[in-house]
Amino acid sequence: MAFFPASRLPNVGTTIFTVMSRLAAEHGAINLSQGFPDFSPAPLLLERVGHHMAAGANQYPPMAGVAPLREAIAEKVQRLYLAGYDAESEITVTAGATQAIFTAIACCVRPGDEVIVFAPVYDSYVPGIELNGGHPVYAHLRFPDFRPDWDEVRSLITPRTRMIIINSPHNPSGSVWTAGDMAMLESLVRDTKIVVVSDEVYEHVVFDQATGRRHESVTRYPGLRERSFVVSSFGKTTSPAGRLPTAWRRAR
Ligand SMILES: Cc1ncc(COP(=O)(O)O)c(C=O)c1O
Repeated sequence: MAFFPASRLPNVGTTIFTVMSRLAAEHGAINLSQGFPDFSPAPLLLERVGHHMAAGANQYPPMAGVAPLREAIAEKVQRLYLAGYDAESEITVTAGATQAIFTAIACCVRPGDEVIVFAPVYDSYVPGIELNGGHPVYAHLRFPDFRPDWDEVRSLITPRTRMIIINSPHNPSGSVWTAGDMAMLESLVRDTKIVVVSDEVYEHVVFDQATGRRHESVTRYPGLRERSFVVSSFGKTTSPAGRLPTAWRRAR
């Protein structure tokens, strides 16, 4: 209608998630296109959420999240990655990883800034960059192994590069960055003002740990850690997003 302003994201149509999930539901197919685990969250998690709601934890929390939760996150990061973070000043709880990524972009990206992303790219990054006046610059992860091409990444860095968004384990390819990749990134951004957003929502989904592969969090690399927003997700880690309607389960 005439009184609505034009879309600020005219190139964003219906997302591939919506298209594929609708098709999967229509055809009774197993839906590998979106994060739909076919199991419920841990009963203990459901019981604890119910317990705290019943006990009166139903008010606005502090903006950064309740202190015991932030402290538990700091302990987890220390235990897994041997990295110390101050729960009071360095950890913030957001409404999902998507909001965390958007907020990090909005904090740092100014009109005209360039942001390097790795394509195929999780589909919330580019709209977030563009809404903040930034320009996405694409590095390519190519079939068959979807590894970063560091010569290409080096060639894309300019004085206008403000941010690099990385995502390992990677959606959609499943590729996992190695210690060598992290060292390359660390050396490329040294002596620059580039900020890193490290989307680590799949940190616990590394299948080939038997062969010594592990999740390489930026928190393990001092030269990256000092310039990085690290994004994790309760949705991916504890699967509360994965509780399926009974009818959908039966259709499978
Ligand atoms: C790579 C990646 N980052 C972030 C998200 C969003 O996570 P959340 O559900 O916590 O917003 C997803 C969800 O599919 C994802 O695949």
